[in-house]
Amino acid sequence: MKKATLGLLACPNGSPGPLRLHACEVRRDDTTLLGLSEEQLRKDDEIVRGVVANLSAGTAYPIVDCVGLMLSDLDTEADRHIGMLDAMREECFEPFRGAIDTTRARLKSRTTTADGEWNREEMAYYDRDVATPELRAQVLEDIRNNPLWNIFLPRQRHLVRHIADRCRGEFVLEVGCGNARTASWIFNPDRYGHRYVGFDISWDRLLLAKAALPAGDFFQASALNPPFRSGVFRALIAFGVFHHLPRPDAGLRACLDTLAPGGYVGLHEPINTPKLFRDGSRAKKATAKLLQSYEHSEHDNEIDLRDTLEMLKQKGANVLDVAYSHSVVRPILNRACNKLSNPGMRKRAYQLTISVDKLMIHTACKVSARLGPRAASVLAQLPS
Ligand SMILES: C[S@@+](CC[C@H](N)C(=O)[O-])C[C@H]1O[C@@H](n2cnc3c(N)ncnc32)[C@H](O)[C@@H]1O
Repeated sequence: MKKATLGLLACPNGSPGPLRLHACEVRRDDTTLLGLSEEQLRKDDEIVRGVVANLSAGTAYPIVDCVGLMLSDLDTEADRHIGMLDAMREECFEPFRGAIDTTRARLKSRTTTADGEWNREEMAYYDRDVATPELRAQVLEDIRNNPLWNIFLPRQRHLVRHIADRCRGEFVLEVGCGNARTASWIFNPDRYGHRYVGFDISWDRLLLAKAALPAGDFFQASALNPPFRSGVFRALIAFGVFHHLPRPDAGLRACLDTLAPGGYVGLHEPINTPKLFRDGSRAKKATAKLLQSYEHSEHDNEIDLRDTLEMLKQKGANVLDVAYSHSVVRPILNRACNKLSNPGMRKRAYQLTISVDKLMIHTACKVSARLGPRAASVLAQLPS
């Protein structure tokens, strides 16, 4: 996390008052500095380990391996949160030690909630594949060498292309960034010059995200309770995230609050259209794997697109584009493309697949919505 990002943060426990920063370990150019106060830090110093705290409220959040843990008491994994803070306690100045002690005591006696349990289940699911340095190294290799053009191309065409040039030098937020695979390929701040901030519920994916996109700042946080001040981002992007929340519309509403007037929002989510087969039918079970386009956790809701568009309208947003995708043929064709070993040919085959998908959506899907579309991307701009 960079010092410049501190000004964007808000306490996820809702305590008013400023957040302060103590840096235990800092990377400045090629040197490592230890034990710096906020005043001693420079704007672009990378804080490797440290503590963000609301000193009057006694809430403390660790930064470890450059990633900030900004979850509320109800959402956090208490043992991890306490363990990280305790490991840095002796390196901190006195007021921070007090905030750590108060946080530890509170977390040890916290109650559990349905949302908190849901979030911890998501963490466990998405941490699993990348839970060790070895697994993360393997996935990092794959991220760097294997662009998922079937997913990236539509996101680039319908969302990023319209936003990227308008965000130079400004803060952009990615909700549920996961391992930052998409942004590292098609919305990389090294190319477009924006200041990228990503957050996700999975800690281990964020460690990987920082390795995949070193220029980004990453936080563990919940989309239902984004730990950012109102109106600080120029754009917000989210790919396949809100449908994982217990209340997708509440999550989107909370995230929209972080956008500045005139800010852009770009979403790509599964939508609730009638399915090819009835839920629970034998045919559905038999084809479920075949029609699935990527691995999901059990918390797999769908977005009601009409509600989403209505919410944007109520906020006075101008909806610039709605693009439908994922007719029934799309995952099947994707599967065939995945088998091509030549990367250039594979990319062209995905382009063709996307065109066939579009054709299906404008023809067969108009006759029967059971054939799709099953996903949509939405690009909108808030009023200035
Ligand atoms: C299907 S993955 C998509 C990841 C990424 N956006 C991409 O396109 O590759 C869903 C992501 O949502 C994250 N997620 C689930 N619940 C979340 C929550 N409450 N807040 C933030 N992220 C969440 C998961 O950890 C996971 O990384």
